[in-house]
Amino acid sequence: MNRIGVLTSGGDAPGMNAAIRAVVRTAIKTGLEIFGIRRGYQGIIDDDMVRMDHRSVSNIIQTGGSILVSSRCDAFMQPDGRQTALRHLKSRGLEGLIAIGGNGTLAGAHAFYSETQFPIVGVPGTIDRDVNGTESTIGYDTAVNTALDAIDKIRDTASAMERVFIVEVMGRHCGDIALMAGVSGGAEAVLVPEIATDYDRLIREIQSGFAAGKRTNLIVVAEGDDSGGGLNLQKELEKRAGLKSWVCILGHTQRGGSPSAADRFLATALGVCSVQALIAGRFGIMVGWRNDRLCESPLDQVVGTPRPFNPLHNEFLTTLL
Ligand code: F6P
Repeated sequence: MNRIGVLTSGGDAPGMNAAIRAVVRTAIKTGLEIFGIRRGYQGIIDDDMVRMDHRSVSNIIQTGGSILVSSRCDAFMQPDGRQTALRHLKSRGLEGLIAIGGNGTLAGAHAFYSETQFPIVGVPGTIDRDVNGTESTIGYDTAVNTALDAIDKIRDTASAMERVFIVEVMGRHCGDIALMAGVSGGAEAVLVPEIATDYDRLIREIQSGFAAGKRTNLIVVAEGDDSGGGLNLQKELEKRAGLKSWVCILGHTQRGGSPSAADRFLATALGVCSVQALIAGRFGIMVGWRNDRLCESPLDQVVGTPRPFNPLHNEFLTTLL
């Protein structure tokens, strides 16, 4: 293997740049040529690639976003798009590909590998942490800390004004950001997509909290919760119990910012071992992190089924509420 490519795809996550840096520098150190592909899979279809060197990734380990730019590419989800991509990779002389992203990216990698056997290795990068085969994903830790910082600030005003505050965090199908940031921020309730919302209980808790002299009531809700997220929950509390609340939607602030040490470390470790896997001839896999160790899983075991919700979290949340 002489020449490989790297891309970031789907929602960006803090730490993706650290992963690109690790991939580029490991490739160069091991004697490979490396091309950066712009805008994820779209860049392969558009043949938008640039040769990278040691200096192309200087001074980026601490930055959010992606220097390669990311996108969600519908064309790559179709067989025709993947055939065009294969043609372009071959005409550029690329013999391997590293795809950094979340479930959509890994599903694309799996489809591409199944159809073409083109050597591809996935690296889990998403703030949601909803990927099978790894205990963490690049960006999750930073996103949680961004959310926690906001929750701490909202607590000040909620307590000063004796208000019920609903903080909506990201997580379309997965409540991990809500759980970690909510519990760490001392929230009175955490609502996640994996557990049905019990309005009666929630309202009872808020009312009894105020009756017992509580000055703050913070509810952290994941955007994909069955309540419909912050604004719907606000309406529902008003309708069901006349409870007035204030909503703060943290949205894309959680995707930006300088990555935490944990995310820089994870991204670097996964970036290095993704290149090593390619060189060693292990393709159609995703590299990940389990039990404090690097690990590898076949892509067909990573994609297709949602990552199971940790039952301990389930117990913990129902006790907390
Ligand atoms: O990348 C994951 C994620 O941030 C989810 O938490 C969120 O639901 C989604 O992406 C938002 O995507 P977009 O930026 O495309 O609206």
